[in-house]
Amino acid sequence: MTSYKELGLVNTRDMFAKAVKGGYAIPAYNFNNMEQLQAIIQACVATKSPVILQVSKGARDYANINLLRNMARGAGEYAAELGCAIPIVLHLDHGDSFETCKDCIDNGFSSVMIDGSHLSFEENIALTKKVVEYAHAHDVTVEGELGVLAGIEDEVSSAVSHYTKPEEVVEFVSRTGVDSLAISIGTSHGANKFEPSQCTRNADGVLIPPPLRFDILEEIEKQLPGFPIVLHGSSSVPMEYVNMILAYGGTLKDSVGIPEEQLRKAAKSAVCKINIDSDGRLAMTAMIRKVLADKPGEFDPRKYLGPARDELKKMYIHKNINVLGSANNA
Ligand code: G3H
Ligand code: 13P
Ligand code: ZN
Repeated sequence: MTSYKELGLVNTRDMFAKAVKGGYAIPAYNFNNMEQLQAIIQACVATKSPVILQVSKGARDYANINLLRNMARGAGEYAAELGCAIPIVLHLDHGDSFETCKDCIDNGFSSVMIDGSHLSFEENIALTKKVVEYAHAHDVTVEGELGVLAGIEDEVSSAVSHYTKPEEVVEFVSRTGVDSLAISIGTSHGANKFEPSQCTRNADGVLIPPPLRFDILEEIEKQLPGFPIVLHGSSSVPMEYVNMILAYGGTLKDSVGIPEEQLRKAAKSAVCKINIDSDGRLAMTAMIRKVLADKPGEFDPRKYLGPARDELKKMYIHKNINVLGSANNA
């Protein structure tokens, strides 16, 4: 058993209370490897932002939980060495069972998500409550989810979204004891968040997605005043990276994300955690493709992973300052 406290990490409790009060959202960036983690930490230190390092089940399978835990410990030491000991949470993204959540808690995670959103209301409550009881006994915080996002949620995928029902949130939160609630108001996972038929096109032919359901968010806030709300599926899918990938041989189609202004608006509300994974994948892939196309003789991974890491850092700095508003809140 390794407690996150031994690793120099924190849970989300104080972080969320400050974010809700301050009208900003904590960046929750997924990582699977060293370069992604370096970029996240460099960007969050440069902007003096707290951060949630997210590990999906896929990341655990890819990188190994012991390595990931020790990377998170190293991230704290690295941040201090860079000049700002920012608060760092190590969070399980889309936990699919009590056992997965327990394993993460026992291995140094300071926060877990139990995703029972595909279950019935009663089954979701029972599973989430069981995770909360174990987590709280270890001072670990828990994110639950009500409502279903379209797209792929780790290994759970849904073609359509089911918005969160505001009339269910109070009962869910009070019966489970969760510390934060992920909701569905029209965001979606991946780089193809909407069907072209759901979008309009601007004069340049760029897809414009349907707006987020701020009316549902407002109703949820009325039901749960000041309670920490989480938005998944919040990549903006920057055209800059989509076009770079296409220019250097990639085959993305109909890519569309959540506009930054809408995320900025959400971050000013009770939304205090915004999940971003796909944008990091796009930025890295775009830069790796470019470097390899520009320098076909290059075969030192540092020569293409290094520029990809720098591009990621630039993107995260922009998000912390201009989208989430988390800069200067460490
Ligand atoms: O919500 C899903 C995250 O983007 C993680 O994706 O399971 O491919 O690591 P992954
Ligand atoms: P994106 O696919 O929009 O980056 O969402 C990531 C996410 O919600 C991780 O849980
Ligand atoms: Zn998600």
